Amino acid sequence: NRPHVGPTQCVGPDYRSESQKPIATVSTEVKYETVTTLPQTPQLIALLTSTRFIALTYDDGGYRKIRDRNTERADFIFYSNRIIRLLVEEGLNHLPVVEHTVTTPVGRNYAGLMFQGKICGVSIMRAGEAMEQGLRDCCRSVRIGKILIQRDEETAQPKLFYDKLPEDIAERWVLLLDPMFATGGSAIMAVEVLKSRGVPEERILFLNLIASPEGIGNFATKFPKLRVVTAFVDQGLDSKNYIVPGLGDFGDRFYTM
Ligand code: URA
Repeated sequence: NRPHVGPTQCVGPDYRSESQKPIATVSTEVKYETVTTLPQTPQLIALLTSTRFIALTYDDGGYRKIRDRNTERADFIFYSNRIIRLLVEEGLNHLPVVEHTVTTPVGRNYAGLMFQGKICGVSIMRAGEAMEQGLRDCCRSVRIGKILIQRDEETAQPKLFYDKLPEDIAERWVLLLDPMFATGGSAIMAVEVLKSRGVPEERILFLNLIASPEGIGNFATKFPKLRVVTAFVDQGLDSKNYIVPGLGDFGDRFYTM
């Protein structure tokens, strides 16, 4: 029995008493109001880990989830997509809504809500592109822009290589997509690009699967009004700036391995 890494908590359905629930590592708490971490449900923790929970329940034939180094590419893509979907759904909760009443087929009124304003996605290439389909699944025909930032070999600093953004991006809410929020270097540069095109900080939502406390701290200091939605805040970064315990290189695992 190896010790758990990070904060632990009992997780599981309410029909079990606290003492019967399994203990799992949960997201590190962060103190910024602008950061939303997805609820640490058994479902989310299982998707992130490597458990038999879902295989036993839904008979899907596989039980290796995204943090497990042995997970094969097809499973990695499938389970990442499920988490991306949860992130997009939560991200959409941060958009402005107005009252909107409709009449139902039985002639009654229903006082509901309607989204207000236009949105677009912007993926940070290449890993962020893995989140585009999840956004399209929730928002049909959404406009999606791209930003390519890579390390400049001479200066070792992030450098903007390419961007293609909707012309009217200044009038839109932007869902910025990058699955791994490590130091935040690329995301900070991407936000600078968006701001230079007229998008105010408060209209940007940064969606990611796993964040580091360092990246969140850097970001919150630099962009205090920008909202972050993440599935999990991990323990930290290693000497190569990989998130730990993390899941390795997301782009490699999603696209090539
Ligand atoms: N990018 C990744 O793909 N993984 C990390 O751990 C950090 C950055």
